[in-house]
Amino acid sequence: MPGPGFEFLGDEERHNIEQVLKNWSLTRYLSDDPEKHSFVRRLERDMESLFRSGPCVAVNSGTSALAAALAGLGIGAGDEVIVPGYTYVASIGSIGHFGATPVLAEVDETLTLDPDDVERRITPKTRAIMAVHMLGAPCDMRKLRDIAERHGIWLIEDAAQACGGSFQGARLGTIGDAGAYSFNPFKVITSGEGGVAVFHDYTSYARGFAYQDQGWPPLRDNNGVGKGEASFGLNLRMPELSAAVACAQLERVDHVLTLTRRIRDRLSELIGSHEGMRQRKLNDADGDCANVLVYTFDSEDRARRVAEALQTKPLIDSGRHYYGNMPQLSGNSSIRYARGDLPRTDDLLSRSVAISVGVSDAHLGSGFGVAVRSTDEDIARAAEKFNAAVTSAALP
Ligand SMILES: Cc1ncc(COP(=O)(O)O)c(C=O)c1O
Repeated sequence: MPGPGFEFLGDEERHNIEQVLKNWSLTRYLSDDPEKHSFVRRLERDMESLFRSGPCVAVNSGTSALAAALAGLGIGAGDEVIVPGYTYVASIGSIGHFGATPVLAEVDETLTLDPDDVERRITPKTRAIMAVHMLGAPCDMRKLRDIAERHGIWLIEDAAQACGGSFQGARLGTIGDAGAYSFNPFKVITSGEGGVAVFHDYTSYARGFAYQDQGWPPLRDNNGVGKGEASFGLNLRMPELSAAVACAQLERVDHVLTLTRRIRDRLSELIGSHEGMRQRKLNDADGDCANVLVYTFDSEDRARRVAEALQTKPLIDSGRHYYGNMPQLSGNSSIRYARGDLPRTDDLLSRSVAISVGVSDAHLGSGFGVAVRSTDEDIARAAEKFNAAVTSAALP
């Protein structure tokens, strides 16, 4: 099973899908009254109220949500956006897609953006920081918010892997000027494909909405002459069938997170401490989505031996999340990065191994571990296996 939400797909999702099929209301715009039958609209509203956020726009993927967020904030050619070198390629690619330059920054022991390194990379061209809540764990949003405010730049949250998580009580994705969630099958909750962009103010929301709806103002009010600037856009709208599933999944999000956090705590208690190994630091353990539990070792060799014994790999070997392994960054003449450009990130990822708590994804390096419905015995077995691997990797 890929992600925790996937394991809970059930009767509520099926019921909502049947509602769509009953009316064949396959798009949010089928009815003249967009408020009436639309699950897409319901998802946006439910999200706004559960997360106490500004206006939301449901789209067809997390990548589209990032694009809508960037479009909403007016990011374009000539702009620089600071983004971590440890993230999914979509965070970096969405910036490049708008003709802006992704400026890669180091992560710290939390494996999320290092605020000090972010500040060092700010230039007169910097328009935004994209904070990625990587592996479900919150970035230090207090420090990043402070940097963004002092420099007069936007703060965007890529919360694709962290739907429902929080930092000091505020939901991830709602703290910056714009945020993005993904509902692909590896995420906290899923609709197969799908995503939501969230905005802090109406102006950026209207622009973000227009980007995913062929340039139309939100909800096509007043026959397209409602509030919002005229623009061109694409069609990245979320279909009703996806929204029907996402609405049911959103109702489960806090339950799912309670379970993953409980499993994380139990696993970490059973694993205990080993010399030369420490648990990844968390900026807010209560707000962590607990998708994975990460341990960092004192040497790359030891991390490799532990990973091999568990038939998984250190995080640096992730083909899709480590900048040094992204072909998009080595084959591109204008945006070029190669292993070695971010020494601290390289060092941390080469010494870190992840255990799946709710997200099992070989590409993410979380091929070993447990799932959200694992029993206490499964959890104890996984901890025992991990401890044995750590002990034998310590032997000469
Ligand atoms: C950090 C991050 N950003 C963006 C995305 C893109 O989401 P999607 O696959 O829904 O387009 C992902 C998905 O894996 C992700 O992990």
